[in-house]
Order: sequence, then structure tokens, then C-alpha cells
Amino acid sequence: MAYHPAMNITIAVLPGDYIGPEVMAVALPILETVLRKSGHTLEHSTHDVGGAGIDRHGKALPDSTLAACRAADAILFGSVGGPKWEKLPPQEQPERASLLPLRKHFRLFANVRPGLLLKNLVDTSPLRPDRIPDGVDMVCIRELTGGLYFGAKSTREIEGGDIEAIDTMVYRRSEIERITDVAIATARARRRHITLVDKANVLETSVLWRKVVGERIKAVAPDVTLATMYIDNAAMQLVLRPSQFDVVLTENMFGDILSDEMAVICGSLGMMASASLGLDENRHGRPYGLYEPSGGTAPDIAGQDKANPCAQVLSAALMLRHSFGLEAEARAIESAVERTVASWIRTADIAGGGPAVGTRAMGEAILARL
Ligand code: IPM
Ligand code: MG
Repeated sequence: MAYHPAMNITIAVLPGDYIGPEVMAVALPILETVLRKSGHTLEHSTHDVGGAGIDRHGKALPDSTLAACRAADAILFGSVGGPKWEKLPPQEQPERASLLPLRKHFRLFANVRPGLLLKNLVDTSPLRPDRIPDGVDMVCIRELTGGLYFGAKSTREIEGGDIEAIDTMVYRRSEIERITDVAIATARARRRHITLVDKANVLETSVLWRKVVGERIKAVAPDVTLATMYIDNAAMQLVLRPSQFDVVLTENMFGDILSDEMAVICGSLGMMASASLGLDENRHGRPYGLYEPSGGTAPDIAGQDKANPCAQVLSAALMLRHSFGLEAEARAIESAVERTVASWIRTADIAGGGPAVGTRAMGEAILARL
């Protein structure tokens, strides 16, 4: 591995609910091992969030958890929410009351979700292998602190006993420019092609996105090509010909939807990691970030040693890359995951009905290949 001066890495670990703690228990030893091998030290403390926060502290994002996140260089997040808390008022639900405030508090405006399916693993995709002869290699850059998620919301009774609910989609030029810059930097490390996904035939915000992204790329990145696509067409093109995509740039809600589609095309939701990068720098002069699997808490399989830990493990790799600049260490983890899956050690979600291993065994197999 490349030489780096020894770093002291401090992270806040927030496992969350249902499968969250199970997959986190797999990711941490892998992270510790790769850091120890390259001479870095890891300090981590574990904190309640989501339903666990509600049950033990009366709120989804306890003050002590937020304080620990502030004191850390990055957050390694599991997943939150589930049927146990579904009867709470919407604003108190684990997802809305923990993950969204964390994104807002740390200004985590850039969500990076790599959709990578290696050629030798195309059998894990629900797509026909002849649609993806060379595998898939795309990345979703999703704006994460604007749009419908954070615009003004309200519900009220109106005339005639009817009820009206409002969500507002708001975007500013500055918000679009800064996420475009992330897409440009990402594209430059790849095939230099950005597809902007929007609904510019209907939405004002999309018209602004097209204008700002187009101008920005023309001004600062003439080496990058830009295609634009409506969201409905993009959802279709992704399953028809995923290889046409390199960097997919899009607003918050569209990115939420497309990134799940991209994840499953690349094998399973259980394989897709995600980095949410902030405006602030950590003590290492790198972006502060939150790293989490994209897949959710999977209450139906929780506690059964069935969940796929790969997305959590790969999220730790993204953390090393983005928040600590440890590219070789990130690659070491990614390669160990790839070789594990390629040697046909797989959890049920990517085993296609074939023999499957459990969460812990999958973790041990990855650890053994580091
Ligand atoms: C995601 C999740 C979240 C989102 C939920 C849990 C609020 O689906 O990270 O994609 O919609 O952003
Ligand atoms: Mg989502």
C-alpha cells in the first residue's frame, strides 16, 4: 500500500435499527484491520440513532449522538426506521427525525452512490446478461439538502371538509452549481460524461437545473460531455442500456428513486454504498461526511444473520477514500468484497437461489481476503 503518515481517525458509529447493528458488526473489524495494516489508528464510539434513539433517549437524534458526530471526522451510519415506530407522527419517525436533520446539520449536500457491477458478476443482476455484457459502471450524484425533502411543507383542512397537503421543490443557482462541481470532479476521474436527469418539460426547478449545469460545464469543464434526460426516460434507459451512463447528476427526489434502481441493476440494494459529503472539512482537511448503505433496515430479515453486509463494508471504504484520502485502503476493501462475491460466497439476495451464506460468514470471508 502507498505510504501515508500515520493518521488518527476518529469516527462516530451510528448502527441504527434492525439489520443496522448486524451489518455494522461486520464492517468495523474489516475497517480496523485495513487501518491497522497500514499503520493508522481508529478511534470509534457507538451511538444510538433512529428507533434506537427514540427507545432509549426519547428522540431519533439524541443530543449526545449529535455531539459525538460533531467531535468526529466522519460518521459511519447503519440504517434507521421500521414497523415498530410507524405509528409515530410523521415528523417524529426515525428517518425524518434523524437522517434528514443529520444531512441538514452537517450540510451534506452531495450524495455519491457508485453503481458498479463487474463483468464476472453480471449473474447477480436481475437484468439479462446480454443487456450488460461488460458489466455496469456508473455513479449517481444526488443533491441531498434541497428540493422536495427540505422545502416548506404543510397539511391543512380546506373548504368543504377537504384536506390539502403541500410539499415545495425549491432550488437555488448556488445549490445547483456546487453539486455540478462534484459531478464534474467525479466525471474527470472516470469517463468524463455527465447525464443530467430532470423534468424540464414540466418543472421550473428543472429548467433552472438545465441552465445552470449547462453553463457551468461549458465554463469550467469543456473536457466533460453533457447529456440531458427526462426522469421517466432515464428510469427506462437504465434498464434498457445501463452502459450509456457514466455520471448521473440529479436533484434529491429523482436521485432517491434512480439510485435504488441503479443499486438493484448492480445486483442488490445490499451492495450499494453511499457517501454524503458536506461543505465542512474534518481535522484532516478533507470533506466531513456520512457514509451509509442505501438499502434500509430490512425488518423482515433482521436478527436472522441473513442481511448482506457488503453495502455497509463498502460504505466504510468510501469513508476512507473521501474523508481520509486513503485510496489504497479503500481499494483493498473493495477488492476483498469483489473477490468474495466472485468466489461465490454470497448472501441470499445475490445468490440467485443458489447456496447462500449468512451475514457473519460473508464478513469473515471478506476479512480473510484483505
Ligand atoms: C435514502 C433513503 C432516505 C431518503 C430515507 C430513509 C429518508 O431512502 O437515503 O435513499 O429518502 O433519502
Ligand atoms: Mg432511498
